Amino acid sequence: MGKTQVTDLDWDNLGFAYHDLPYRYRAVYRNGAWEPGELITDSDFQISEAAVALHYGQQAFEGLKAYRRPDGGVNLFRPDQNAARMARSAERLRMPAYPEDLFVEAVKQVVAANQEFVPPYGSGATLYLRPLLIGSGPAVGVHSADEYIFNIYATPVGAYYKGGLTPTAYVTSEYDRAAHGGTGQAKVGGNYAASMLPGEQAHAAGYSDVVYLDPRLHENIEELGSANFFGITRDGRFLTPKSPSILPSITKYSLLALAKEAGLQPEETTISINELDQFEEAGAMGTAAVISPVGSITHRGQKHVFYSETAVGPKTQALYDRLTGIQFGTEVGPADWAVDV
Ligand code: PLP
Ligand code: COI
Repeated sequence: MGKTQVTDLDWDNLGFAYHDLPYRYRAVYRNGAWEPGELITDSDFQISEAAVALHYGQQAFEGLKAYRRPDGGVNLFRPDQNAARMARSAERLRMPAYPEDLFVEAVKQVVAANQEFVPPYGSGATLYLRPLLIGSGPAVGVHSADEYIFNIYATPVGAYYKGGLTPTAYVTSEYDRAAHGGTGQAKVGGNYAASMLPGEQAHAAGYSDVVYLDPRLHENIEELGSANFFGITRDGRFLTPKSPSILPSITKYSLLALAKEAGLQPEETTISINELDQFEEAGAMGTAAVISPVGSITHRGQKHVFYSETAVGPKTQALYDRLTGIQFGTEVGPADWAVDV
């Protein structure tokens, strides 16, 4: 696959796809220490056929975006939080974390090196950064690798869910993506591998994504396949599931703060799939999803419609405007959220 040229790209119709850009950052851990990382042009890995990542899934990843500001500069959004979460994912899978300060510096280097691929302000598109940590050393028995690769690639992206700010339909599944006490809190590939069959079944049936229910009771909402869930009640509470088996979403924690600022009452709590009536509006939130309105959830053949199947609700729209205003640098948010590259 050849390198993508800037002239190949239509900023307004990007989709959520991989493009092989000129530069990525790569570092190797061997002999008990991280060697200095560097920007390289080779987008391939050469690793052992016995690499632990390939057999036993010893890997973790992150997702964050670079946003073109109207002044031509570029913002990252809370990259320190991605660095910290990747360190926690690494700990859960017995991998050496990439040092958090170097992680943020490496992200900046990748953005700067590929800066012509940061989409223009106003297109709505962004440059998605994908940090990855893999156990590259060989093993046959189930134990952690002795060598690791840390890599960050970048790819320009548009909306993750087809509709953007148009509501889309979601469906519950009999499958779980992560177990109670499993790896749901970590951003590891195995959780996503487990979500592919239910996700593809949902897509084939015309839904945007799956609503996972808690793995113990199948009663309470966990999260979506690629984002956290929120609902806004008629009396102004901004509710989002509290569970040990969901990803601690950086967008979620940001929106909990912005909801409060907007006069809503934010709360992480148990949300029963049988109590959707309490919500006037609902949405998906995440780096890729940004805020995507949830038009409906179908559970056991029963479809529940929230605000509207075709129009975004006013509170969801206001939160979207505030969040993206901070990300794209047109509004000032809490200290350290927007980081200049
Ligand atoms: N939940 C899942 C399963 C995800 O894949 C993501 C995306 O990263 C999120 C939630 C949202 O997390 P964040 O806001 O940190 O991107
Ligand atoms: C993200 O929002 O960064 C994600 O990781 C979601 C998905 C693309 C896996």
